[in-house]
Amino acid sequence: MSMGLENVVAAETCLSSVDGANGVLVIKGYALDQIAGHMPFEEVARLLFTGLFDDLPDAATFAARLGRAREEAFALGPYIDDGILALPPMDGMRALIARIEDGEDIETALGLLAAPAVLLPAILRRRRGLSPLPPTPGQGHAADMLHMLTGKTPSPEAAGALDTYLVTVADHGLNASTFAARVVASTWSGLTSSVLAGLAALKGPLHGGAPGPVIAMLDGIGRPDNAEAWIEAALARGDRLMGFGHRIYKVRDPRADALKAAVRRMSEGSNVLPGRLMLAEAVEAAALRILQAHKPDRPLDVNVEFYTALLLEALGFPPDAFTAVFATGRTAGWLAHAREQRLTGRLIRPQSAYVGPAPAEAA
Ligand code: ACO
Repeated sequence: MSMGLENVVAAETCLSSVDGANGVLVIKGYALDQIAGHMPFEEVARLLFTGLFDDLPDAATFAARLGRAREEAFALGPYIDDGILALPPMDGMRALIARIEDGEDIETALGLLAAPAVLLPAILRRRRGLSPLPPTPGQGHAADMLHMLTGKTPSPEAAGALDTYLVTVADHGLNASTFAARVVASTWSGLTSSVLAGLAALKGPLHGGAPGPVIAMLDGIGRPDNAEAWIEAALARGDRLMGFGHRIYKVRDPRADALKAAVRRMSEGSNVLPGRLMLAEAVEAAALRILQAHKPDRPLDVNVEFYTALLLEALGFPPDAFTAVFATGRTAGWLAHAREQRLTGRLIRPQSAYVGPAPAEAA
């Protein structure tokens, strides 16, 4: 038995491969650095969906239909009431997505792919007392999401940074949320249910909930020369350092470098970002040194969440919304995995080892 299912292979997939020993992520035959920053998110989503849906449109039609799906998702705006606004954005978004009818077709998939990009900006604007802004279907998915958040046309650097981010997190092997999505798909429940399972699993701090606390850590440290003392004290309390360590990667997470490069591009011309980047680099260096001394037998390196935090902060997302932005990208992977699992027709149903009491003998 393996409590965390380490090294258990539970699915065969054509979607992505994570080589943890060498720090290589391959998505549908492309190394991450061949697509992140080079292929728009909608094309990567279409690539993931290829072979899994009947009637998959060509790339231009796919992008146009995703734009129309964003318009349809905007119709969920009136359901953003005080109850939704009282929840963390990830939970509010999950409650709204639960209103989408379950299905297995490409229309359902496009609706689910579109929804987070529209609903998250709408929730964040309502929370600030502003009206949600409708999507502009002709824009790229990432640029449109930023436009709906800020009301301004994003700079090419900002739109490119968000697009790079969405591609970087679009799929990543059989991570916890993707496994949850596949388990639900295996019961033939439908794509909405699978995405809801993915959202529920992603939000925990051991998975997609880490980048918000990374900002709290950077703010707590404040200055590069405070990093060592702050980290030593955190580890002495038994805390985990958010943004470090990974179940599969034993070396640096390749997604961290893709995101760090995007942050660096955005920092040119910014007054604030270079200082933030310098602090993050100092924290990263100190954390790696201290983790190495703390756990010499367990390689712990930086993971995707560390530079995610910096990038999403620079784009204007509040820390409690970071996980919901992650979900915006990962929905592509969840949908593809859910379809791939559904097409096998096979129910996922493992066994457990009973260690409870035996029934009392009848008198
Ligand atoms: N900080 C301090 N110690 C750590 C960290 C960390 N970030 N990560 C692991 N360790 C320690 C553990 O406490 C454990 O020590 P122990 O043996 O004394 O109990 C040892 O290293 C081995 O850790 P495991 O729990 O076996 O590693 P696992 O593979 O289960 O953990 C995980 C992976 C959950 C990501 C872990 O590294 C962690 O909690 N990181 C911080 C949270 C985080 O950044 N999550 C995002 C991951 S990326 C993603 O999901 C998108």
